[in-house]
Amino acid sequence: MPLREHMKSPACQHLFIFTLSQFVTAFCLFAYIQLSKDPGREPRVSQPSTFTIQPANNPTNPQSGSELTILLWTWPFGQHTALRKCSELLGIQDCHITVNRSWYLKADAVIVHHRDVCSSPKTLPQGPRPPSQRWIWFSLESPTHSPNLGFMDNLFNLTMSYRRDSDIFTPYGWLEVLSQPQNFSIPAKSKLVAWAVSNWNPASRRVQYCEELKKYIHVDIYGSNHMPLPRDKQLSTLSQYKFYLAFENSLHEDYITEKLWSNALGSGAVPVVCGPLRENYERFLPPDAFIHINDFPSAQGLAQYLQELDKDLVRYQRYFQWRTWLKPSERTSWAFHFCKACQALQTYQTQTYQTWPALSKWFR
Ligand SMILES: *[C@@H]1O[C@H](CO)[C@@H](O)[C@H](O)[C@H]1NC(C)=O
Ligand SMILES: *[C@@H]1O[C@H](CO)[C@@H](O)[C@H](O)[C@H]1NC(C)=O
Ligand SMILES: *[C@@H]1O[C@H](CO)[C@@H](O)[C@H](O)[C@H]1NC(C)=O
Repeated sequence: MPLREHMKSPACQHLFIFTLSQFVTAFCLFAYIQLSKDPGREPRVSQPSTFTIQPANNPTNPQSGSELTILLWTWPFGQHTALRKCSELLGIQDCHITVNRSWYLKADAVIVHHRDVCSSPKTLPQGPRPPSQRWIWFSLESPTHSPNLGFMDNLFNLTMSYRRDSDIFTPYGWLEVLSQPQNFSIPAKSKLVAWAVSNWNPASRRVQYCEELKKYIHVDIYGSNHMPLPRDKQLSTLSQYKFYLAFENSLHEDYITEKLWSNALGSGAVPVVCGPLRENYERFLPPDAFIHINDFPSAQGLAQYLQELDKDLVRYQRYFQWRTWLKPSERTSWAFHFCKACQALQTYQTQTYQTWPALSKWFR
């Protein structure tokens, strides 16, 4: 379809303006990052690239029409979760989101949460499939923790995950641009390095790295078999630390979780990350917002660097400069993700999706 024809539909015009504004914002950020790039000796490897951001206020969707019905095939992990109106969360037209399977034949889309159906293909919807219905494959877990992906091949029309190339991109977090610059005040610090880990597996790379790191610098460890960290104390506890080890449980492109967004950035501790490559993190964050373990030849090198920063307030504060213009999102929830699906179904209704018939070949 030629561009001009695309532009006739109000939804497309809106999409165009939205994309343009995203581009302009991304460009400004890029310029900002370039300007604020520290020419000093911080061990940084790569060029920053424009990273994924979302505007603080999403545009309202101009489409008016009948409400779309989205069937949640299961509650995520079988746990009942609060649903919210998408008009309140995203300022878009509401969708009828339900877990009531009586709606199957009438549903415009079915969201299938991988971990709740992967034990057997029999747990997937079985009846005849309405011709215009879209099946959405949904997972926030990494491929390492997504068994039986082969069951899912050639069934789905849309993907919904933390991967940037999903049809419906549902990251664990993102940055929002502030309308006014702010003087971010760094929380009072009395401790050095923290890590909270629920699954302590001594054979895992991240635990081994931490054990090595502990030989050179003190690390407070929270979680099972370690110091308790009640949920309501998490923020206030972790905010006392200068650094937080945001070590992912497996290494995959774009797999950057609440360990970074909530535990580290949310509490105002500088993230020390272990996950995908630095370049990948820089798609989500300015290069001076985090420390990557790959920036150092060894855990000993990292420990030395953290100790230097501990003694040099000015250098430590540079890890907060980006907060003058940006802040981490605080809005993710299951309800928010479902509304992202609602928004995508409304906005891109007439367009072709980026389909991956063989899901198991894409999600790895
Ligand atoms: C499911 O939806 C059907 C059709 O609208 C309705 O009759 C039924 O009461 C609903 N079941 C529940 C548990 O809400
Ligand atoms: C969704 O995908 C299935 C399986 O590839 C296909 O049979 C169906 O026609 C698709 N539905 C839509 C609405 O594109
Ligand atoms: C931030 O603090 C500096 C120095 O204290 C002050 O000059 C400046 O006006 C403040 N900026 C904002 C946005 O509050």
